[in-house]
Amino acid sequence: MTHQRLGVCYYPEHWPESRWREDAELMKGIGLSFVRIGEFAWSRLEPSEGAYDFAWLARAVDTLDHAGLKIVLGTPTATPPKWLVDKMPDMAALDADGRPRKFGSRRHYCFSHEGYAQECDRIVERLARTFGAHPAIAAWQTDNEYGCHDTVLSYSQSALRAFRKWCAAKYRSIETLNTAWGNVFWSMEYRSFDEIELPNLTVTEANPSHLMDFQRFSSDQVIAFNRRQTEIIRRHARDATILHNFMGSFVDFDHYALSDDLDVAAWDSYPLGFLERSSHNNDFKLRYMRVGDPDFQAFHHDLYRACGRGRWQVMEQQPGPVNWAPWNPAPAEGAVRLWTFEAFAAGAQTVSYFRWRQAPFAQEQMHEGLLLPYAEPNEGYHAVARVSQELAALDARVERARAPVALIFDYESAWAWRIEPQGQDFSYFDLVLFIYRGLRRAGLSVDVIPATATAIAERALIIAPALFAPSQEFTEALAKSGATILLGPRAGSKTADFQIPANLPPGVLQSLIDIRVRRVESLRPGARVPVSESGAFVRWREFLIVGENVERELTSDDGEIALARCGNVFYLSGWPDEELLKSVLRRIFQAAGIPTLDLSEDIRVRDNGAIRYIFNYGAETTDISALIGEETLLLGERLLEPCGVAAFRRRD
Ligand code: GAL
Repeated sequence: MTHQRLGVCYYPEHWPESRWREDAELMKGIGLSFVRIGEFAWSRLEPSEGAYDFAWLARAVDTLDHAGLKIVLGTPTATPPKWLVDKMPDMAALDADGRPRKFGSRRHYCFSHEGYAQECDRIVERLARTFGAHPAIAAWQTDNEYGCHDTVLSYSQSALRAFRKWCAAKYRSIETLNTAWGNVFWSMEYRSFDEIELPNLTVTEANPSHLMDFQRFSSDQVIAFNRRQTEIIRRHARDATILHNFMGSFVDFDHYALSDDLDVAAWDSYPLGFLERSSHNNDFKLRYMRVGDPDFQAFHHDLYRACGRGRWQVMEQQPGPVNWAPWNPAPAEGAVRLWTFEAFAAGAQTVSYFRWRQAPFAQEQMHEGLLLPYAEPNEGYHAVARVSQELAALDARVERARAPVALIFDYESAWAWRIEPQGQDFSYFDLVLFIYRGLRRAGLSVDVIPATATAIAERALIIAPALFAPSQEFTEALAKSGATILLGPRAGSKTADFQIPANLPPGVLQSLIDIRVRRVESLRPGARVPVSESGAFVRWREFLIVGENVERELTSDDGEIALARCGNVFYLSGWPDEELLKSVLRRIFQAAGIPTLDLSEDIRVRDNGAIRYIFNYGAETTDISALIGEETLLLGERLLEPCGVAAFRRRD
């Protein structure tokens, strides 16, 4: 088991070389051990074609190394330099309106452009050859935030050509594709794969099956792009640790599949920016504006832990106001520390802050760093120094344990309901996060998992909301799992081809519970369908036909089944409001025999091995004695202050 570590993102190319040593010593001085560098430096590594200049990077690496720091070296492929873009202007992605996404910021490339991919092979190869054996390089980061600024989908000629090939490989015959997509509808039939178009600029909505395959294809392109880099790096640094920094609430490619080529999954956590960008109402945003949504970060920690098969980290942790959200408030005092401990409690190996020093120039000049633009320490610096001392005193190790409660998060489902929301506010991501919040409010530590047989093994409770098209194999694994299972709404409601299953939804899942969904309706904001015992459906509800062995656990006021049950399998036939979710969860916790905690609204709990952490996301000091009993606190106080973190060793 390794120790938990702290790190920072640093751009030596932004600062005079004479300053590097002092920076490195200051980093070391506040207990940082990891520094990520290099990920946007292409114009300095190769100022013009073939004219490499790696000497400065080597000196930067050595300076950090001498200070005793380890390095995460980024490949610079998110920022192709001007000469390269001018050499092959068609490497730009085209947006859905067919307009090029031009040079002048970053991520100006199309994942399907073979010429660009070869340029990337070249620069990655050079870097890996030069630095692959350097003892200070502890890890490699591929590119930066794949898909950031909406860059996964591209409607370029390269994408079109590659998509046709992808379709031909998948369907073999054009008749099969026509049938799978239902192209007889509106005379959309193709006579050959060469006739296939990209699903943009259509008069009205494109065919959902077409959109789904384009999304799958686009995801595969990102994975293939990444794989080229990982293969090159491994050729030169066989034991390299390779990671990528993923984002928050971002679903445009399958992160589980991409992570199969990585050793560690990392993600970039900006709690205040994410909250401002979220769909929460104004009251929620005001309430948490300086600490962030108490569950959003935790959800991503759990998701990326699954991606990294246990090995994960925060690569960019917000240390102060950022520049990119609609509003950019400052974190509450203690918030940076709170976020850091929440990540470690979820099993992070490293928490690394973005960025070391605020840049006084260019796009992110309003984004704080640990140092002010002119190098004096800012608040983030002091927060990190404190966390680092506490970590050393705690002597905590990275622990991993399988949680009995698992919540399925599935990328295809996210694409499906974005393609066909049916109700404007049906967001798969929001639904899963909403249920996750209900689980956290009950004091549970949860694993977020993919819909695979291995991931669901040894669980007491499995929750699979809105799972688009579960496979036969997965359905059988569910049936054999012996776990309590909560399905619905919209579970199994399509085939993988994006058609309604022959025997109606929930399709293959009918082998678990004998119900059929005969009608669905979406509900505009403000509309509610009350449910007998408590709460109501909002946004979405379904009308079920049920078999004889299915019990009605909950019924809506208009007499429809709201929660159906067959043995240990439950089906929820709508989008619950908070009250209804609570009563549904209460029933399934009971069925699964899962003990819960009674937490006040802003308190969250996380178990990491034998250590239980308690977090206060509220603005009030809260007495948490009831959660601690007779145990001795390793961290924090029984009267837990706002942003407070407490920890103790459990004996049960
Ligand atoms: C991330 C990105 C960084 C920086 C940061 C600002 O999305 O990876 O390069 O732009 O946001 O918050």
